[in-house]
Amino acid sequence: MSKISVIAGKSSEDLARKLSIKIKANLVKSEVRVFADGESKITLSGKLSKRKIIIVQSIYPPVDTNLVQALSLISKAKEISSEVIAVIPYMGYARQDREFLPGEVVTMKVLGKLFKGAGASKIITVDIHSMIGLKHFTIKSKNVTAIPDLVKYFKKLSLKNPLVISPDQGGKDRAKEFAKEFESEYVALEKKRDRKTGKVQIKTKNVDEVANRDLILVDDMISTGGSIIKATQFLKKQKCKRVFVACTHALLMNNAEKRIRKAGVTRIISANTIPGKTSVVDVSNTIAKAII
Ligand code: R5P
Repeated sequence: MSKISVIAGKSSEDLARKLSIKIKANLVKSEVRVFADGESKITLSGKLSKRKIIIVQSIYPPVDTNLVQALSLISKAKEISSEVIAVIPYMGYARQDREFLPGEVVTMKVLGKLFKGAGASKIITVDIHSMIGLKHFTIKSKNVTAIPDLVKYFKKLSLKNPLVISPDQGGKDRAKEFAKEFESEYVALEKKRDRKTGKVQIKTKNVDEVANRDLILVDDMISTGGSIIKATQFLKKQKCKRVFVACTHALLMNNAEKRIRKAGVTRIISANTIPGKTSVVDVSNTIAKAII
């Protein structure tokens, strides 16, 4: 039997399988039956290594269900092995890493306690919304980035004089990193989000550099699509050519893909941290490097 076991959580089956091949681990699948009241009943099929167990489970919608499943798998793994690594490719709740408005609960603090309490010895995330999120964990943690994998994909596309754009100042470093790897320039727009309604506005007035160029809008995640739609509408007014989107986590809630395309985006390319139509970039190799 292999020294390492990978447990494939239901939300990350394909990524877990790819990872297990890369790190030569035995793959243990989880069968999930969701009761009428929403409870998850999980059954593992296969033998687990006593040496090291890796759980792969992204926390995308249904967020709380996938979270409880991740914690349950960690807890089960801890009964067998003292080394339990939780790979959470998309970390739900990562945007709730600080108290933006008085009285808000910092849910990442709660998650820090829950993962430790369940028995994880280390947590690995991919492009977590902000590193502040991981500061709430007292166990070992590591964040890896999908940017080199996304860039590799974009290098195969024939783009006209491409320019990298961040839809907001918060994503400036991400766009800078992408542009460096892609060997292009970058621009970060100014976005304002109403903290109560969640609505976004682009505050930047003019960006002369975008005219007649293909653009790559880089973001960590797309949820409602509001940020990408507003940025695309603005960039189209600035007479750019095509707009492509590169993001790690494509949640694409409430028909976001259709609305983004309607706003003028040619293509969305995302990583397989969340499975879906746009998730064409595999990050298993990047995660494997963080484990070995
Ligand atoms: C915000 O700071 C994030 O980096 C994303 O831009 C944002 O969470 C995307 O959300 P939505 O698609 O709902 O605008």
